Amino acid sequence: MNKTKIKVAVVTGGGHGIGRALCRRLAKAGATVVVADIDIAAATAVAGEIGGIAKAVDVGNEHAVAGLVEEIEQAYGPIDMFISNAGVGFGDGKSGAISAEGGMNPVDDRWEPCWKVNVMAHVYAARALVPRMLERGGGHLVNVASAAGLLSQIGDAAYTVTKHAAVAFAESLAIEYGDAGVVVSVVCPQAVATRMIGIEDDSDSMEGGFRGNDVDGIMTPEAVADIIVDQALGGRFLILTHPEVTTYVQRKASDHDRWIKGMQRFRKQIS
Ligand SMILES: NC(=O)c1ccc[n+]([C@@H]2O[C@H](COP(=O)([O-])OP(=O)(O)OC[C@H]3O[C@@H](n4cnc5c(N)ncnc54)[C@H](O)[C@@H]3O)[C@@H](O)[C@H]2O)c1
Repeated sequence: MNKTKIKVAVVTGGGHGIGRALCRRLAKAGATVVVADIDIAAATAVAGEIGGIAKAVDVGNEHAVAGLVEEIEQAYGPIDMFISNAGVGFGDGKSGAISAEGGMNPVDDRWEPCWKVNVMAHVYAARALVPRMLERGGGHLVNVASAAGLLSQIGDAAYTVTKHAAVAFAESLAIEYGDAGVVVSVVCPQAVATRMIGIEDDSDSMEGGFRGNDVDGIMTPEAVADIIVDQALGGRFLILTHPEVTTYVQRKASDHDRWIKGMQRFRKQIS
């Protein structure tokens, strides 16, 4: 069942970027907002600003996610909206899509954190919340994937694959529980001005930051957060913050082989 008023919301990865903008937007709408992040300093700063609650959590740890849900519901009541927003991407390593080494931020194996944070975190949140939401007749699960989950992120195979999996998991959830009251949304943005694409929080130059909108299709986290909250409350499943993604997805679906050829050309252009 769609909730028009969100009393309690949890946003993972709420300390920075899109998550931070989501926290601000939900607080402005009157919700009690839990800012959950592995970066507790950032979560504390956001919670302080919006009058919310900061929680340190690694969303790749099922025990931590289940504990967070239990603790918040005990203290503040039912979670009306849980936004699984935390996400990671490391870029392909030196040998490209088949490599095992880390890319931009070297990690021993970049696939494992991508699976844990981009996919399993959504599973853990759903495991903790679906039975509760079914029992009380409703609630929103909002899973932030990426346009890379519908198309492809050139230069990051692990990100692309795990974001596809996140979209597929949201589809499974919506098919199974959607008509029993659990409102599932999956968000597939293109570029958003955050640290993930090399733009620091609150900086205002194009080198270190970005305050405008729609420059080269890059959107602000605030604009994206508004669309996410409005469309999730409206009960929308697929939230496309960047309108051009619809066209790209249609092109891919209408001729997959042609789309691959186009992506090969695009890869050459940008490399
Ligand atoms: N920025 C973009 O261009 C873009 C485009 C499409 C999708 N997305 C997705 O949007 C979401 C938010 O990304 P962002 O752009 O705001 O990036 P960001 O790096 O600014 O924020 C990500 C947040 O997630 C937190 N986080 C990372 N690992 C965590 C973990 N294990 N447990 C808890 N918190 C963790 C980080 O501390 C950070 O606060 C991600 O899922 C990302 O994949 C971003």
